[in-house]
Amino acid sequence: MRVALVQSSPVFGDIGANLRQLLAAIAANEADLYVLPELCLSGYDFDGPSQLAPFAQEAGAEPLEALARAAAERGAGIAFGFAESAGGKLYNSSCLALPDGRRRVYRKTHLFAREKLLFSPGDTGFFVEEFRGLRVGIAICFDWIFPESFRTLALLGADLVAHCANLVLPYCQRVDYARAVENRIYVATANRVGIEERAGRRLTFTGESVLVAPDGEYLARLPAGEPAVAVARVHPAKARDKGLGELNDLFADRRPELYRLG
Ligand code: ACM
Repeated sequence: MRVALVQSSPVFGDIGANLRQLLAAIAANEADLYVLPELCLSGYDFDGPSQLAPFAQEAGAEPLEALARAAAERGAGIAFGFAESAGGKLYNSSCLALPDGRRRVYRKTHLFAREKLLFSPGDTGFFVEEFRGLRVGIAICFDWIFPESFRTLALLGADLVAHCANLVLPYCQRVDYARAVENRIYVATANRVGIEERAGRRLTFTGESVLVAPDGEYLARLPAGEPAVAVARVHPAKARDKGLGELNDLFADRRPELYRLG
């Protein structure tokens, strides 16, 4: 099972250009599952909901269909982040589009900083979808700082977390090591690069997309400052084995009855 991290450089507010960039990167690299960044169609730092709304996609919108068609044509899964418009609300969402037509949308649980002024908090919760023997869960960017996000996905049976990101803090890529090792899962963080500067705000996105194995090995790491793609192989059986030496099992040894506050 080949997993591609697609690290892009979105043009703020230019959905057509961003879609072309993403489709070209997908077409140029063979993989079974492509993981794309958070909000990879629109860009990130909108002034407010009214500026964001025209760039938010409803179910069935053409940019979402174009990525779903690419998934079908390539016989691959594509996980991509987008601004979603649904039921009069805006969500920071990711879609997992699979070649058999399945689509699952995850809405970001933990909104970061000014995202709280733009989006409604996600209401889907976490889920896992099986594709070609790999159980895939989705998380979006700041979800990483809450261990509960990846733990929940791992307990739901995820072998790999497709982590669509627009990282600005410098240490997620190192924390991914912990998220992978503590859950014995693959963590695929697809981050963006570039700078967004508006209304006196300046955000530098950190790139360095990583794919970390259940034993903590970094199977791929992209450069900090430029768009790039990395493809690496993952093995679901490696993520399903929660054993650690002869006497320990990371899940069987948990003591949830003692994880109480008072
Ligand atoms: C983030 O959650 N985009 C930092």
